[in-house]
Amino acid sequence: MNPQERIAELSEQIHYYNQKYYQEHISEISDYDFDMLLEELTNLEAEYPQFKLPDSPTQRVGGSITKDFPTVVHKRVMLSLGNTYSEEDLTDFDKRVKKFLTDENVPLDTLEYICELKFDGVSISLHYENGVLVTGVTRGDGTQGDDVTANVKTIKTLPLRITHPSAPANFEVRGEIFMSHKVFEQLNKEREQAGEPLYANPRNTASGSLKQQDSKEVARRKLDAYLYYLLGDNLPYATHDEAIKALETWGFQISPTYRKCADIQAVMDYINEWETKRKTLPLETDGVVIKVNSLDQQRILGFTAKSPRWAIAYKYKAESIGTTLESVTYQVGRTGAITPVAELKPVLLAGTTVKRASLHNANEIERLGLRLGDTVFVEKGGEIIPKVTGVDLTKRPANSVELAYITHCPECNTALIRRDGEAQHYCPNEKGCPPQVKGKLEHFISRDALKIDGLGGETIDKMYQLGLVKTIADLYDLTADKLARLPNFKAKSVQNALAGLEESKKQPFAHVLFGMGIRFVGKGGAKRLSEHFQTMDAIMNAKLEDLTGVSDVGEKTAQSVYDFFQIAENQDIVSRLKVAGLQMEVGASTATTESDTLAGKSFVISGTFTKFSREELTAKIIANGGKILSGVSAKLDYLVAGENMGPAKLEKANNLGVKIVSEDEFLAMLDDSNLPTASPTVQKDAPKQGGLF
Ligand code: IVH
Repeated sequence: MNPQERIAELSEQIHYYNQKYYQEHISEISDYDFDMLLEELTNLEAEYPQFKLPDSPTQRVGGSITKDFPTVVHKRVMLSLGNTYSEEDLTDFDKRVKKFLTDENVPLDTLEYICELKFDGVSISLHYENGVLVTGVTRGDGTQGDDVTANVKTIKTLPLRITHPSAPANFEVRGEIFMSHKVFEQLNKEREQAGEPLYANPRNTASGSLKQQDSKEVARRKLDAYLYYLLGDNLPYATHDEAIKALETWGFQISPTYRKCADIQAVMDYINEWETKRKTLPLETDGVVIKVNSLDQQRILGFTAKSPRWAIAYKYKAESIGTTLESVTYQVGRTGAITPVAELKPVLLAGTTVKRASLHNANEIERLGLRLGDTVFVEKGGEIIPKVTGVDLTKRPANSVELAYITHCPECNTALIRRDGEAQHYCPNEKGCPPQVKGKLEHFISRDALKIDGLGGETIDKMYQLGLVKTIADLYDLTADKLARLPNFKAKSVQNALAGLEESKKQPFAHVLFGMGIRFVGKGGAKRLSEHFQTMDAIMNAKLEDLTGVSDVGEKTAQSVYDFFQIAENQDIVSRLKVAGLQMEVGASTATTESDTLAGKSFVISGTFTKFSREELTAKIIANGGKILSGVSAKLDYLVAGENMGPAKLEKANNLGVKIVSEDEFLAMLDDSNLPTASPTVQKDAPKQGGLF
């Protein structure tokens, strides 16, 4: 099969599995096999870009970089909705609709409404041409928006092309892009672990994600979408609910929460029912959208300059209360990030007493225009942390002055810095700023890192005060004598601490890497890096492009890892941890040593194997004294080539004269230590044939 045919076949297969998985929730292939198909396609497309299909499924994983998002004029303006907050407003809306229709001689017994929830995300307009998703544009000012097509294509629940026979070739569909609570919380957990300031809420995070220049990073954000509006010429549907049902059959995700309502009373029942029930949904909603169901009636009602007459939004009241801003304090995180905190006069809000609220960064304080003594509105929406939403200017005390953001660290008085393009201020005094030093130690002993039972936050604090530890490596220089100097630390505590330190040496390498506290490297990132590079040495010696090449590791993280290991002190800490006996390789703690047959030889493995998983093969190489390298280079001795490996890699290895061995040849090397010297076997054009349908 030639590359063009193979690209078409792989695209077809991947589309098929995607459709099964994301639209029908059926998994017919293992994640691993799926990744292999995707990897093969990605490699082939890189080598033969002329054959890449416009709806290629590789766009899901991102890859393209958009410098500026071009402004696109909407084919049909994107209006917003009128807002209502009370039953009275709704009755007025119902009356207006009825009057308008009556004036146009429309019988009112045909009037019915559809209620949908108002999803709190970013509205998007998608254009399909000949069944293929060609553009995704944000609402912008309603007349023109940003072309974010590449980013939109990473949303897995959005079909890249429509194959259903009832779908028209060309149409527009609108909906809301959102980030689910679960993804948002996970993202914030990773940020917390990586010592980064938390995101404020899912909506802003979704919006920010959609404007990321690197679509690979967007893919990591796991955005999602609900669609609620179909537009096109000569569509055969008579009602809104027929149209959204059609969208559903074509593979679009429609929230199942909508309901047909015979009259405005039924609308109110829906609103009341969902007021609390909406909190159980996987995403943030802030109201209900009420739409006239008949599309004919919608056309008759038409639009005002700002919004349709046939629809209105009912907004639920966010629980909000006014209280006094007593002061602003500043927290210094483990990475030196400064977070301003509003210290409030305590108030009861949604069942809990609120005393503090995060102000995120200097921009937020400026945006709110805060002054000490102001009465501020505090709200508890979908966020875990209450937020300050505004200021009651009528209650502003006379002579108050605008808040000046601190210029120096509140803990160590070092001048703060603010990196280009970042909202957060940082204290750069990594080694001398107490919360940073203690934060790093606390992170190191935490559960997901080295899990050192027998030491805790308080002990770290005391050890730091006594000058016993300054860096994570100092922990392994602790002795019974030193520990005994801690107040109230009896023999048993000393014993527990030492046992905990000893036990931590068994923690897997990914935990050690996570424990290093490298900025942007959370638990997941540490795992991915360790699996890719296998050893600490490989990570420390990796070039920036090796690091950016790791799947699911963003550019910012790669740069941060690279910078971290350029610093001599960090290299020194690693050496000391190594001497202390911590795990510096994947699987080293469990690996059995089988032989030293492969000593001094380096390997890269690629593709799929029949006798081993990739992990087993890696373990086998290490157990026999071999080394795993991160990529094909002139330094590499052997490339172990499985099925479906990328042709680009194969070609590179060939060009560099790297020996290419099959799985069986690799096994033969272990048996008789007869290391081959030629570069034989694997055929370049031998991908596995499909036969999946
Ligand atoms: S229909 C012509 N339905 O609310 C108006 N909008 O304030 C078509 N929104 O810009 C919009 N959920 O971003 C509609 N179920 C829903 C919605 C919804 C959220 C957003 C949308 C729109 C804004 C209007």
